[in-house]
Amino acid sequence: MLSLATVAKIVKTRRKIAWLDNTLVKHPNVRIHVSGDCRNDCDRLALSAGTRTVEQDEIDELGYTSDARLPLEPWRPITREEHVLLASKTRPQFSDNFINVFKLPPILDSQRDLIARNDEGTIRDQIVRPLSSLCHFGEPLHVIGVGIRPPNARTLTTDHRTGKRVGLHVDSWDGIDLCARRRATNRLCLNIGESDRFFLFLPYLLTEIVQIVNAGLDESPMKSFEQTFMERYANVPVIRCRLSPGEAYIAPTENLIHDASSEGEKTADVNFTIRGEIELLQ
Ligand SMILES: [Fe+2]
Repeated sequence: MLSLATVAKIVKTRRKIAWLDNTLVKHPNVRIHVSGDCRNDCDRLALSAGTRTVEQDEIDELGYTSDARLPLEPWRPITREEHVLLASKTRPQFSDNFINVFKLPPILDSQRDLIARNDEGTIRDQIVRPLSSLCHFGEPLHVIGVGIRPPNARTLTTDHRTGKRVGLHVDSWDGIDLCARRRATNRLCLNIGESDRFFLFLPYLLTEIVQIVNAGLDESPMKSFEQTFMERYANVPVIRCRLSPGEAYIAPTENLIHDASSEGEKTADVNFTIRGEIELLQ
């Protein structure tokens, strides 16, 4: 729950943010909290100029699906007003509209190699045990494990059935109705690579996007709610959060338009992922 002072500050600053001009998108409700032990990085948060449809050469050469949407460049630093609106200095223990970024103890290069080769003992000692002291893992818990993706890729998620890049999307592993997505599992993703990586997201929960789209249309949308939202409100920015090696995020990816990125990085993106009812301990 936000304090009255915070709410008043948000109302005042909202007037200074151009992409909030449309009444229907005036109340983004996703916020991000970066723990104090993470690297103090002035480049941590950036915003795109909106979203765009994928171009033909990206479909042909990079393997995107024909209806994929991507962040519209250029990226720019977050403004002070946007920081007040989207970032929080405090973190509620239970909240389904927060992205929490935190740090784990460093992993040595030799251990990182063993983790990348799925060495069970090293994963247990270097990842599962430190995480257990930082997070509460409720059931169901799905350990997805190590994922390795190419460096310098604008977005990273591929459809496991087709191998094609899907662009900005909402996960649907739980198979839960759209209106019940606040009860869905969330995702913990730890950067165990040598390079920074990025988490990309739009600052509205899917449950809110359904209401926004329905309020702006006379009939049901022909495409998914997330696609319709990004097309209708193409100037709504993607938020990009930089994650250094050893940093992790917990995010409600079943209720959030998102992707990851390794753009500008020189070595492979290596991450460790768990899905479940995960809460960061206070
Ligand atoms: Fe995803």
